Amino acid sequence: MKLKRTLKWSARVILLALILGFLVGFIAYWRSTNECDRKTGAPGNPMKAVLHCEYGGPDGKPKDTRLGVDYAGTVEAVGKNVTNFKPGDEVFGGKNGALAEYVCVLVDRSVVLKPANMTFEQAASVPVAAITALQGLRDKGKIQPGQKVLVNGASGGVGTFAVQIAKSFGAKVTGVCSTRNVDLVRSIGADHVIDYTKEDFTNGTERYDLIFDLIGNHSFSERRRILNPNGICVMAGIGGAGWHDGFATRLLGELNAYVRSRFVSQKFIAYIAQFNKKDMMILADLMQSGKVTPVIDRTYKLSETADALRYLEQGHARGKVVINLE
Ligand SMILES: NC(=O)c1ccc[n+]([C@@H]2O[C@H](COP(=O)([O-])OP(=O)(O)OC[C@H]3O[C@@H](n4cnc5c(N)ncnc54)[C@H](OP(=O)(O)O)[C@@H]3O)[C@@H](O)[C@H]2O)c1
Repeated sequence: MKLKRTLKWSARVILLALILGFLVGFIAYWRSTNECDRKTGAPGNPMKAVLHCEYGGPDGKPKDTRLGVDYAGTVEAVGKNVTNFKPGDEVFGGKNGALAEYVCVLVDRSVVLKPANMTFEQAASVPVAAITALQGLRDKGKIQPGQKVLVNGASGGVGTFAVQIAKSFGAKVTGVCSTRNVDLVRSIGADHVIDYTKEDFTNGTERYDLIFDLIGNHSFSERRRILNPNGICVMAGIGGAGWHDGFATRLLGELNAYVRSRFVSQKFIAYIAQFNKKDMMILADLMQSGKVTPVIDRTYKLSETADALRYLEQGHARGKVVINLE
């Protein structure tokens, strides 16, 4: 009797810990999205940071006016102990406040030489989105050659990298997108494309080893049904950038999937991409070899940044949106 009660309470404590862990993870993930540098507002309080970043502080002014993370450009000057970079080197990387004419970065952080075959616009579109795709597929999804991989949200900033990176691992890739993006997703290497306006991918007969989900618009059971018994669903996002209908429902759905997957053979994993130099070099190699080519939707001037963010926040970008200084 006592053992039964202890087990029951242990199960409750574990469930609560899992829910709290997932919530903390998701808040951090939400703070990490590329459309706005949410870290800077108030690091100790994520929700306050979100509000300050999006809507300004109590005085109505944005707390941090330098948004953005991804950048590419030419080295202007280096510190006296720096030996691996010199003025004139063409580089790309990630740094908070990158929507600016200059960024100041530490050499051992995520800054690497830009491959010569890439333009600055292409290089600047890579860091957060491509690292998210690489780490999600390789580290969380344990992608292997020959596996069947489905990318839900294949036409967006992260999705266009995910399709190409999955192909570079030798996977058979199915991309899910809307009608207007079918040709685009096919052109970046997807073996199959599912138009979500015509077909629900969870109703098909195909089974996948890995679902890389950037949208989160299907339930745990629906996605489980199309996963192989030991398949993995990497829950990378909950739809295109910006606020949209179903945002809260999808967030709760992912939390539900995360908890329920603890009790089945398939894994449902959420994560936050982390910058590191090694992965930036892997991405540079992928670009250099032509295995991955960034898809650029629109380019704006620095003075048009607000328009660029407004466009991005509609959640329908086709690849990446880039700010150009010239
Ligand atoms: N885990 C992390 O560390 C991390 C890092 C970065 C981003 N994220 C998250 O990842 C998600 C995607 O980011 P992103 O930068 O790729 O966003 P994005 O570029 O804004 O994605 C827009 C794309 O999503 C497509 N889309 C919208 N609804 C769809 C649906 N129901 N089915 C399939 N595709 C749909 C849109 O196509 P249509 O317009 O044709 O519908 C559009 O091409 C976001 O939720 C973001 O917050 C997570």
